[in-house]
Amino acid sequence: MGVDKARLFLAIFAVLAPAEAFDWSSSPWAWHCADGTCVKGAREHISNPTSLETCKLTCGKDGPVWPKPDYITIGKEVSYFLPKNLAHDLLCSGDSCNLLKQAFAIFEDNLNKYNPTYSNGEASWTGPWAPSVETHQVSVHIVLQMDQSHLKMDTDESYQLTVQTAAGGSTSAVTITAPTFFGARHALETLSQLIDYEESTNSLQIVNIVTIQDSPAFHYRGLLVDTSRNYVDIPTIKRTIDAMAATKLNTFHWHITDSHSFPLYLETLPKMFQYGAYTYRQVYYPADVRDIVQYARVRGVRVLPEFDAPAHVGHGWQWGEKDGLGKLVVCLDKEPWMSYCVEPPCGQLNLANENIYKVLGDIYKELVDLFSPIDLFHYGGDEVNLNCWNTSKEVTDWMEASGFGRDDDAYYKQWSVFQDKSEALLTKANKGIEVPGVIWTSHLTEEGRVGQYLDNKRYIIQIWTTGKDPLIAELVKEGFDVIMSNYDAWYLDCGFGAWVGEGNNWCSPYKGWQAVYDNSPHKIVSDLAGAQYTSQVKGGEAALWTEQADSENLDARLWPRSSALGERLWSDPDHNWRTAETRFIHHRQRLVQRGIMADRIQPQWCHQNEELCYA
Ligand SMILES: *[C@@H]1O[C@H](CO)[C@@H](O)[C@H](O)[C@H]1NC(C)=O
Repeated sequence: MGVDKARLFLAIFAVLAPAEAFDWSSSPWAWHCADGTCVKGAREHISNPTSLETCKLTCGKDGPVWPKPDYITIGKEVSYFLPKNLAHDLLCSGDSCNLLKQAFAIFEDNLNKYNPTYSNGEASWTGPWAPSVETHQVSVHIVLQMDQSHLKMDTDESYQLTVQTAAGGSTSAVTITAPTFFGARHALETLSQLIDYEESTNSLQIVNIVTIQDSPAFHYRGLLVDTSRNYVDIPTIKRTIDAMAATKLNTFHWHITDSHSFPLYLETLPKMFQYGAYTYRQVYYPADVRDIVQYARVRGVRVLPEFDAPAHVGHGWQWGEKDGLGKLVVCLDKEPWMSYCVEPPCGQLNLANENIYKVLGDIYKELVDLFSPIDLFHYGGDEVNLNCWNTSKEVTDWMEASGFGRDDDAYYKQWSVFQDKSEALLTKANKGIEVPGVIWTSHLTEEGRVGQYLDNKRYIIQIWTTGKDPLIAELVKEGFDVIMSNYDAWYLDCGFGAWVGEGNNWCSPYKGWQAVYDNSPHKIVSDLAGAQYTSQVKGGEAALWTEQADSENLDARLWPRSSALGERLWSDPDHNWRTAETRFIHHRQRLVQRGIMADRIQPQWCHQNEELCYA
């Protein structure tokens, strides 16, 4: 292309694609609300044409909020306003006040992100605006009833929210009342979803009249991310927490280590990461962990550390012999792996070596400190392979010399002794304060064993088998509280190609958002055990094991499917996914606006043409 031609091209391009967006009100298309559905049509034929965003804010049966509130009434009108006219006053005390201030700043940033020009924390809000847009005030008044700055299993996360705007008035008054910071934070999240960008005015818009009362169905609403199969970088973990906050999930279950790698820097045991991290850059340093814990707290999320043992250990533990502590792990990298573990590389703690308790005690001390204050601790405890122990000479010699014998029950007994000792070490590390332990379903929790080996006052059982497993009935009847993570609905790694061998991976097929949404912990327990046991379900969690995921694709694996989980656990809807579909697709757009690389669920046409993509 010659210089002149290039100039001509640029000139034409400048006309076709001006820096300022086209005035959207000149589009031949617009939306209107018909019986709770946003319908697209020719602007000239609609009596009150609105943008898609205004329609989504004011039209849906459940409003635009995800997860849907207990109770919501919502007006049909919006007011346009600019971020500079957003005011707030906070009635709070103590630490929760600091948290609330930070949460408000996040809320303001989220509003900015609705502006399509948002980039690196800035959006361009340029006029001219009509006087009614330029001067409209939104004042947010927040009242916290108590000062609680750490999430616990019994934290009250409820809130009330109202928006009032007098007809033709120049102020929208928002009032939020919540017992705790955590409820108020959820309210701000909800409020951000009652606001959107409006293209035709280059401003924000807020629904004029709203009343909401809201509280979660379950206290524990979790998402597991594994950072051992593959390392997940810190910005990606933070994005995950952002999306959890947008969805009112409250527990980031961090499966930090496993047999594959040990990406955690421990001050007293630096050899663990030196031997076990994939590279020295793929490591979480203490400052990183503290930063993540605080980042999450401001967003209403507790970070629950899991230190999986006595199986699922390996890399990172190889220094024992050199340091005079003997072999800490047996079966490490042993082949053929199928005989000694569920996936390569194998490894289990060497039960015959008392030094494992010294090391575990040190690990727990650092973990308790890093995640302080802990209100739960996850011991892992899954997938022990008895054959691994029973073919390791040190272990078999010890079993025989101690007179334990070597049958199944002998090993289960010693495994439970290990669990008891671990629990005592954790309590000691936590300065004598006992916190409930979470433990996966395993051979120890199988029929007839759980009552014998585990104390229902000390452990919550996380169920990963299917939602039809009769064991679930036994667990609740034995008095255990449970967290549901049944893999037939809530394992997000299922349905991709196999990573050992060919075909599809073990828990295929892929669990679509509809399956995630419809999986009801209350129904599972009530069908298997009886309705009187449903109060023992503390909540649920989706899991992403990262054999086939890392920072590059984590967002799309998790989102928007985990938002479907969010509504199940927050709202426990009495209907299936169909009623939620248009709101869900809209929420997915919201996640994208906030920088989450969420998967596409449908063509954009379906977002613009509500309820026309049905089977
Ligand atoms: C361990 O090995 C011994 C000897 O082969 C066998 O008798 C025993 O059943 C094995 N135990 C388990 C739990 O596999």
